[in-house]
Amino acid sequence: MDHLATRAVHAGNDVDPGTGAIRRPLVTANSYALPEDPSELDWSGTATALYTRNGGANQRWLEQKLVALEDPAGGGDTGAVALASGVAALHAVFFTFLRSGDHVVSSDVTYVATHRLLTELLPDRYGITATLVDSSDPDAVRAAIRPETRLVHVETPANPTTRITDVAAVAAIAREAGALCSVDATFATPVLLRPLEHGADLVVHSLTKYINGHGDAMGGAVLGRAELVERVRADAMVDVGGVISPFNAWLIMRGSVTLPMRMRAHCGNALAVAEFLESDPRVAYVAYPGLASHPQHELAAATLDGGFGGMLAFALDGDPALQNRFVAALRIITSAVSLGHDETLVVHVATGEDGRAAHFPEPFRRYGHLRLSVGLEDPRDLVADLAQALDTVLPRP
Ligand SMILES: Cc1ncc(COP(=O)(O)O)c(C=O)c1O
Repeated sequence: MDHLATRAVHAGNDVDPGTGAIRRPLVTANSYALPEDPSELDWSGTATALYTRNGGANQRWLEQKLVALEDPAGGGDTGAVALASGVAALHAVFFTFLRSGDHVVSSDVTYVATHRLLTELLPDRYGITATLVDSSDPDAVRAAIRPETRLVHVETPANPTTRITDVAAVAAIAREAGALCSVDATFATPVLLRPLEHGADLVVHSLTKYINGHGDAMGGAVLGRAELVERVRADAMVDVGGVISPFNAWLIMRGSVTLPMRMRAHCGNALAVAEFLESDPRVAYVAYPGLASHPQHELAAATLDGGFGGMLAFALDGDPALQNRFVAALRIITSAVSLGHDETLVVHVATGEDGRAAHFPEPFRRYGHLRLSVGLEDPRDLVADLAQALDTVLPRP
C-alpha cells in the first residue's frame, strides 16, 4: 500500500471474522468480555479491549486509518488517538503535556476555541500561560521562548486568515528549546501536509471537517510518536473521558476513504473561486494561499503537497450590513459554521465579534471577513452564485 489514495481506501478495513463481511461492522457495545482472571487488569489501561472509554473497536480501526494517512512511509513509530471533537483533541494535548507554571508559544491566529483555551481557560484554571506570536515568522517564535516553554503550538493554514507556518523551522526551534511542537493541520489534512515529516512531535486534526467530509459527525485526533500518543490516550481519554462514539468513528472512517480525491477537488474549486473574487473590484480582499498575492504563497507552494486547500476568506468593500445582505443573496452556498463539507459553506464574522481581531491582518480588521469553505459543487456554479449575489447587493453602474 504505497500511495496515500490506496491507504485511504484500505487501511483499517478488513474482513470481519464473525460474519465474513468485507467492511468493518459498527460495534456499539460499550463493554467487552473480560478475561477469566481479571485480577491483573489495569482498569485505567488501554492495552485490553475492556470498555469503550478505554478503546472501542471502531475507534481502533479509525486510528489505524489515520496513522496510515499521516505516516505514509510507515517507517515512523506513529500512533493515533481518536477523540470526541477537534477541541477535545487540542485540550488533550494541552492537558497531557502541560503543568501549572508551564509556558506555551502559539500562533496568534488560531481557531477561536483554541484561542480561548490558551488565553483564558488554561491560565485561569491551570496556571499555564501562552505567548501568541505570528508563527509565520520563525524569529518571532524563537524570541518568545522562555526557560519554562514546554510546547510550541501552531495552526497552519490558520483559521480564518489562512496564514502559513513553516513547520520545519518552528519544530527545529521547539526542539532546540527542549519543548514539544504540535501542529493543528485541520485545514491542510494529511493529503496536503504531514507535519511529522517536517519534524513536529504531535499533529491535531478536527475529524469533523475534511477527514469525515460529509458534515454528519464530530471527532478529533492526536497523532505522533506512539509513546506520546499513549500518554494522551491514558490521561485525556480514559481518565478525563473525551472518547469518540463508535458511530462517529464508523462514519468518519467511511468518509475518509475519499479524502485524497476530495481534497484535490476542494483545492481546484477554491483556486477558481479565489481567482474570480480577486478579479472583481467590488471585493475588498481575498486571502487564499494559492494566490500570488498571499503573503506566504511561496512557502505554501513549497510545503503543501499538490494544492492550497479549500479554505479562503474575503470581504466586500462595504460595512457588515452589506456582507450580511450578500450572504443572504447566495442561493447555492449555505450560511453555516463548520468547514470541509461536501457543500460550500460561508460564515460572516464582523471584526467586533472576534476576540482574535487584534492579531488579524489589516483588511480583516477593517472589513471583517467572510470565511468560505469551498465544497465539491461544480466551480462554475459557485462562481455564478457569488457573481449573482454581488450583482444583487452592489449592482454595476
Ligand atoms: C483549525 C481548527 N481546529 C480545530 C477545530 C475544532 O474542531 P471541532 O469543531 O471538531 O471541535 C476547528 C473547528 O472549526 C478548526 O477550524
